[in-house]
Amino acid sequence: MESSKTQLDLVLKGSGYDIEKEIKAFDESKAGVKGLVDSGIVKIPPFFVVPENVVSSQPTPAHLQIPVIDLKDTHGDPVRHEKVIQEIRSALEIWGFFQVVNHGVSKAIMEGMIEGVRGFHEEKNEVKKEYYTRDVKKKVTYTSNTLIHKTKAADWKDTLYFRMVPDSPHPEELPVVCRETTINYTAYIRGLGDTLLKLVSEALGLNPDHLIEFGCDKGLKIMCHYYPPCPEPNRTLGSKSHTDPDFLTILMQDHIGGLQVFHQNQWIDVSPIPGAFVINGGDLLQLISNGKFKSAEHRVLANHTGPRISVASFFAIYDRLCGPIKELLSDENPAVYKEVPLMEYIAQYMWKEQDGGMTTLDRFRL
Ligand code: OGA
Ligand code: NI
Repeated sequence: MESSKTQLDLVLKGSGYDIEKEIKAFDESKAGVKGLVDSGIVKIPPFFVVPENVVSSQPTPAHLQIPVIDLKDTHGDPVRHEKVIQEIRSALEIWGFFQVVNHGVSKAIMEGMIEGVRGFHEEKNEVKKEYYTRDVKKKVTYTSNTLIHKTKAADWKDTLYFRMVPDSPHPEELPVVCRETTINYTAYIRGLGDTLLKLVSEALGLNPDHLIEFGCDKGLKIMCHYYPPCPEPNRTLGSKSHTDPDFLTILMQDHIGGLQVFHQNQWIDVSPIPGAFVINGGDLLQLISNGKFKSAEHRVLANHTGPRISVASFFAIYDRLCGPIKELLSDENPAVYKEVPLMEYIAQYMWKEQDGGMTTLDRFRL
């Protein structure tokens, strides 16, 4: 895999194109992918180009859709409650993904957040530039392609990032166009996160408070993505294939579409449903569930139309050792993962290429 980058480098160098220099200029512009589009380019720069076979345009078979789970009356009605737990268990075992409706977050809160994110990304460059940084210690940042120097091809997107829990930023640290909407949205996402973590605990056959007592809700990061329209959507990706480095992700996507999950050896579209959230289990859930719940690979296609806006909320902590939950293990179900120092896991996730089909989590298998 690494050699493909080297080869591309050589070819480009031979043609007088210096990829490192181009990336540096792009980064220093602090204007992101949106800046490129606004400048009127009709061909994408070579450092966004993925190998030809990557973006396949095979349509999703109509019968294959991630499950949609209705959370209405999950609290009050014991029969509904049990049904929802079973649906979540089956969705996380088979897909690693599902959508939820009737989750208690109003359309006004959701749309408010999307519009706030749009407002930020469509702000004048002088305003956005103030937030542009690769400093991972900052609680509020705006960047295009956080790991641009590591990746083989850059993604066609820009990201506004908030670390909301623990130690949330002061309101004044949030960009003014999306300050109020982000604070409101975060409160609801924390509530929905707790609801889901309880249901997921029960889906594992544990006490409802198990995952919360473990601290799964003690860290929350929110990434607000902006995928500008792309002049050559068949040559790049909005987000390259990845698994999420967390327990659980709550994703809100707008109506444009492009999210796909890898399932039974093919890419399946996650079709936007107005008012729904997409929920997926991350690597840490796969780890603590001893592989029972899947952390599925997913990606986002680039699109001629746009911008596409999405907001991904990640529940994760990295300040401890973490292995398969003891109550889930038995002679018939022995641990398949080691106890993992999560700091080491996240460092590997951030800085090592996933090579030869091996994911970061695979490195911690027994
Ligand atoms: C992510 C992610 C999907 C999307 O941020 O990890 O997978 O639709 N986002 O933006
Ligand atoms: Ni993701």
